[in-house]
Amino acid sequence: MSTLKIGNVCVTDLTKNFQTPLYVYDQEKIEAIIDLFTESFQSSQFKTKILYASKAFQAIEMINLVAEKSWGLDIVSGGELYAALQSKIAVDKIYFHGNNKTYQELDFAFQSRIKHIVCDNYMELIEISSLANLHQQKMNISLRLNVGVEAHTHEYIVTSHIDSKFGFAFESEECRNCLNLINENEFLKLEGFHSHIGSQIFDMKAFYAAIDKLIVYLKEFPDPLTLNIGGGFGIAYSQQDNPLKIETVLKSLIEYVEITLKQHELKIAELIIEPGRSIVGEAGCTLYTVGYQKVTPGRKYYFVDGGMTDNLRPSLYQARYTCDIANRMDEEKTEKVTVAGKCCESGDILIQEALLPPAKLGDVLVIYTTGAYGYSMSNQYNRHVIPGVVFVKDGQVKEVIRRQTFADLIQQEVIGGQTFGQLVSQKVTQGQASAQEIRHKANQGSDFRSYITYEVIENEC
Ligand code: LLP
Repeated sequence: MSTLKIGNVCVTDLTKNFQTPLYVYDQEKIEAIIDLFTESFQSSQFKTKILYASKAFQAIEMINLVAEKSWGLDIVSGGELYAALQSKIAVDKIYFHGNNKTYQELDFAFQSRIKHIVCDNYMELIEISSLANLHQQKMNISLRLNVGVEAHTHEYIVTSHIDSKFGFAFESEECRNCLNLINENEFLKLEGFHSHIGSQIFDMKAFYAAIDKLIVYLKEFPDPLTLNIGGGFGIAYSQQDNPLKIETVLKSLIEYVEITLKQHELKIAELIIEPGRSIVGEAGCTLYTVGYQKVTPGRKYYFVDGGMTDNLRPSLYQARYTCDIANRMDEEKTEKVTVAGKCCESGDILIQEALLPPAKLGDVLVIYTTGAYGYSMSNQYNRHVIPGVVFVKDGQVKEVIRRQTFADLIQQEVIGGQTFGQLVSQKVTQGQASAQEIRHKANQGSDFRSYITYEVIENEC
């Protein structure tokens, strides 16, 4: 029986120490891809910058990794900003995106002294402008443009009908209003234009079409501006996906921008990209424990101890993945099975058809390429805990996010004016139970009431 190793660590050791489901990232792979992006995205004609689109997988340790490589960070919410501020990333390397950043989020951005906002609409810019006045603080503004190019994995379309919720057309009144407002406010500076045409893109022509549009817009501006062409570089989830090598993609993009600028006799200050999926997708996988099996007239099921709660993508987008039984890597794959999760939802299928060896209760099933939009889209449906995350490298394991406990699931619930979280910590300070004891009970899911609920009822009396 041969067992899968990741970063020179046996996956069965990981499952013993951290339980399942568990997200595992090969740190060396992440570092290597970051370096490859950095090396391949260089131009002699303009500055280049790479922002990690942290929505793909945001963890403080992950942000630290990109910070160490001198990258910037794309964030899209107050929550992502808050986490970023706890990391090693310099605030001036954070770019704040999003179509409906609230006043509170924008205020938080000014208070945190970030320097770059990608503005999505005119109403947002009015808020930004008043906050800049209030804080007497400068802000670089990029305008998110809808260039009318929409990319879907293997194809793209150019539409004249532009109705995405993101951005606006350069030709629109909304854009004129934004440009005027930036001109009028001494604290605001037009940094440039941004466009993101889609995700999991395989077709370079889609990027080229967007670049063509963006570069023409620059003609109106005397000073060189920054162009941000977003993320979206496709990865291989299964053998059907055949993305171009990322170094080829990046070099071609640079070349295309250089040539197009030359044709129009224009200059840019900087070219930015914002990859997310392509940085973490292939470096991550999820480990599950195989539970029960069931045979129906049409299929055989292997059930696992996770599902749409830790990977929403198959149910939401019919995304395809590949898998193995990680402790039977050398066994013949004779079983055609459906890998299903444990959620109360018929659509909770992780893989419709997988070829695997005969598995036993307690085996470890690994699903590959779950590193992007897996953890970040996880949820607590059916009160399943959010799994932990580990980084492995050179035989070492680093716990990056701890698996939730049952207590975590209810700690924000309020009974009698106090949260369970507060009640637990009170009980700990009163010396009636150690936090560890409570957590242990909570994890076991046994007799939890006598520790917490019982106390609450007493307080109410
Ligand atoms: N920049 C902007 C403005 C974006 O909206 C996105 C992704 C990115 C960069 C990063 O794109 P990437 O390199 O990761 O493709 N939940 C979906 C993906 C949604 C992508 C949203 N925006 C999924 O699981 O496929």
